[in-house]
Amino acid sequence: FDAVDVIRTKRDGRAVPEDALRWMIDAYTREYVADSQMAAFAMAVLLNGMERDEIRVMTDAMIASGERMSFAGLGKRTVDKHSTGGVGDKITLPLAPLVAAFGVAVPQLSGRGLGHTGGTLDKLESIPGWRAALSNDEMFAQLQGIGAVICAAGSGLAPADKRLYALRDVTGTVEAIPLIASSIMSKKIAEGTEALVLDVKFGSGAFMKDVGMARELARTMVALGADSGVATTALLTDMNTPLGRAIGNANEVRESVEVLAGGGPADVVELTVALAREMLALAGQPDADVEAALADGRAMDAWRRMIIAQDGDPDAALPTPRETHTVTAPTAGIVSRVEALPFGVAAWRLGAGRARAQDPVVHAAGIDLHVKPGDEVAAGQPLFTLSADDAARFERALDALHGAWEIDDAAPPVGPLVLERI
Ligand code: URA
Repeated sequence: FDAVDVIRTKRDGRAVPEDALRWMIDAYTREYVADSQMAAFAMAVLLNGMERDEIRVMTDAMIASGERMSFAGLGKRTVDKHSTGGVGDKITLPLAPLVAAFGVAVPQLSGRGLGHTGGTLDKLESIPGWRAALSNDEMFAQLQGIGAVICAAGSGLAPADKRLYALRDVTGTVEAIPLIASSIMSKKIAEGTEALVLDVKFGSGAFMKDVGMARELARTMVALGADSGVATTALLTDMNTPLGRAIGNANEVRESVEVLAGGGPADVVELTVALAREMLALAGQPDADVEAALADGRAMDAWRRMIIAQDGDPDAALPTPRETHTVTAPTAGIVSRVEALPFGVAAWRLGAGRARAQDPVVHAAGIDLHVKPGDEVAAGQPLFTLSADDAARFERALDALHGAWEIDDAAPPVGPLVLERI
């Protein structure tokens, strides 16, 4: 095969034959196909799309580029969740121990944040001592004993995707449904979970701004799961407003612990419960009383055991910021809009996120929302508190928040958080 032929085929809008596509991915993994060639191919896919069967082959070839884990022999059902990413999305933290409280294993291999969406591992690393890297044996033992593991994905899973994703990031080729779907699903299928629930987000703070595109992405990924024998469902969920009241790292852990203690913001609880129900239904427990496990401490117990197993201290004080700045209401009224993307960007500029993969994050940096859309406020009332280690960061964060929220006379229309199930 020849890379230029494969690129030309896709450039001219034709389907790439299965053997040629498998060769292309394999040769790229072996560094025989150059980054420049793969970038041209990715752009051709972005512009011309892929047929269902091509996406399936692409996903399969990326899985075949690395190891495939197996949890056979665990003696428990396995089910995982993946979110396409959002602002204030800490749902994995309460969700994994909640589902594990029902005797199901949740092998949650996670990543770090890049850009305005946070990473689950960054959040958990706010907890003193907590360790993201586990060996396969440690992971297996923790799944058997506790049920919930949130840890770093090893470099052996879908290495073709690792290279390709980094390349797409710098060539304007991230926003292609065939590439996103094959990227996410290759990692999740290689991880060896039996079942998977996808939280596919739409709106300002999501990858997919448009609900129609999010639906197509969800359908594509659900079909890829089914093709590989992974029982997969998806929820389409709203990401126009940040989830919960905390955007950052340590503050998101704090909010997750509130949910595990039976409290927490209504939207975070709603989504955690909805995803837990989906996961438990796929694991054969459609009637599990999820709310009861939050209310009676079973989920909290699983959380504490999960954190301790990875050397974290669940009772330790979380990092607190050196500097804070509070934005207050200029007028009385009703909060009509809190726009996810600019709040994500502002939190990122405060140090909660990173600009380059090798940068550290500031665990205490971020934003706490004192109000959400629909709340009535008096003039001068605190709206948002920005936190950072250096007050010099506030100016650029406040720039990002310019026009990102509104106070109006009337309550805004509220759409559902969970729009539909696929
Ligand atoms: N997340 C991924 O893992 N891959 C993509 O392509 C997009 C989001």
